[in-house]
Amino acid sequence: MPTFGVIGAQWGDEGKGKVVDAVAATHVVRFNGGPNAGHTLVIDGKKVVTHNLPSGIAREGVNNLVGPGTICSLEDVRAELAIAKENRATVWLDERCPIILPVHKAIEAGREQALGAGKIGTTGRGIAPCYEDFYARRGPMLSDLVSADRFRAALAHGGYYAERAALARQLGQEPMSLDDTVAWSMPFADLRPYLTDTIRMVHQATMSGDTVLFEGAQGMMLDVMHGGRPYTTSSSCGRGSISNTFGIFDFDRVVGIVKAYTTRVGAGSFPTELTDATGVRLREVGNEFGSTTGRPRRTGWLDLVLLRYACRMGGIEEIAVTKLDVLTGLDEIRVCTGYRHGARFFPDDASITEQVLADAEVIYEILPGWIEDIRDCRRVEDLPKNARHYLTFIERRLGLPISGIGVGPERSEMIWNHPFTVG
Ligand code: IMP
Repeated sequence: MPTFGVIGAQWGDEGKGKVVDAVAATHVVRFNGGPNAGHTLVIDGKKVVTHNLPSGIAREGVNNLVGPGTICSLEDVRAELAIAKENRATVWLDERCPIILPVHKAIEAGREQALGAGKIGTTGRGIAPCYEDFYARRGPMLSDLVSADRFRAALAHGGYYAERAALARQLGQEPMSLDDTVAWSMPFADLRPYLTDTIRMVHQATMSGDTVLFEGAQGMMLDVMHGGRPYTTSSSCGRGSISNTFGIFDFDRVVGIVKAYTTRVGAGSFPTELTDATGVRLREVGNEFGSTTGRPRRTGWLDLVLLRYACRMGGIEEIAVTKLDVLTGLDEIRVCTGYRHGARFFPDDASITEQVLADAEVIYEILPGWIEDIRDCRRVEDLPKNARHYLTFIERRLGLPISGIGVGPERSEMIWNHPFTVG
């Protein structure tokens, strides 16, 4: 029963979709987050972005499953079902997935406004307010789309909706009324044929030897517990989240996706951030603009301190380095190998918090760059010496093998050191 986990090892946007797409999985499963994710795939020059459904919807014959810890935007799910249909991929949604309501977005907008300059810089998709309700054990789930009465009952239960609407109003927003929310939901009742018990489906798939790939959204540094709160998302992004959701505890491989440099969207400390011409260059060459919000991403050098932590907390056993081609043409490349806090070195086994990031003085090693175009390289031996040196440096310092290397945006532009052959 081959099971793979694909986990973001930085602040999201590491290029997970491309790696997921490269594994010939029969089932691709989302286990965390919601439409805050944006998985971009470039297939034959055509860009496909998925937000709420797994990126397997771009592959014919793939079963795409959305687990019960994933929150759903009904609009995004509907739009992405059309992509799946076009590609002859199937989709199953867990009947217990929480639904993101218009009032969740209103609450989030009000909170971000109230925070002013201190805002989190969320994706504006209502993620935190929806997860709050999930953990408070209330709010409608996909199974409540069965009828208007059932949806209304889920909203009315214990005064739930009235309370949320009052909060939105307190935050200066005009919430949708309960009646209008019921009316808003009912056109999505046609999602019902897609609803199932995805945990059972995953169990059956693994028992029958199918290849199941769990596709992480966001990254370990955005994890609600292990990231730098409050500048995180509201879900758990690592391997434990898969186990918690699906009862799968053994994996054949858990791959961490690492961009060859670092990016971050939204607020929060970023020790290796570059605000100079090199930062602008990385943004432009790497096309670092949010696939969900279009916001320019902040860019910086690779940070091995946070990667070591992310790999440890995320249960990552090997890594794929993406976008190596973006570094081509730089004279020298810096890599953060440690943090200093005054006279004290930050210990490798300590937890990284927002304060740790904010106070970090970065220790860099400087490695030589390369100028050769690497997009056509398909074997590690084809890479320029300095590119190989960069990868070996990362591998040694992380103590994890590199199984894949991204050398361009196309699906085919990868070097596989350790391919995902199954069987
Ligand atoms: P939220 O998940 O919309 O609440 O946003 C919280 C923080 O996580 C913000 O800094 C977002 O920019 C960031 N974030 C959420 N999802 C992603 C993602 O898929 N990629 C990168 N950043 C993300």
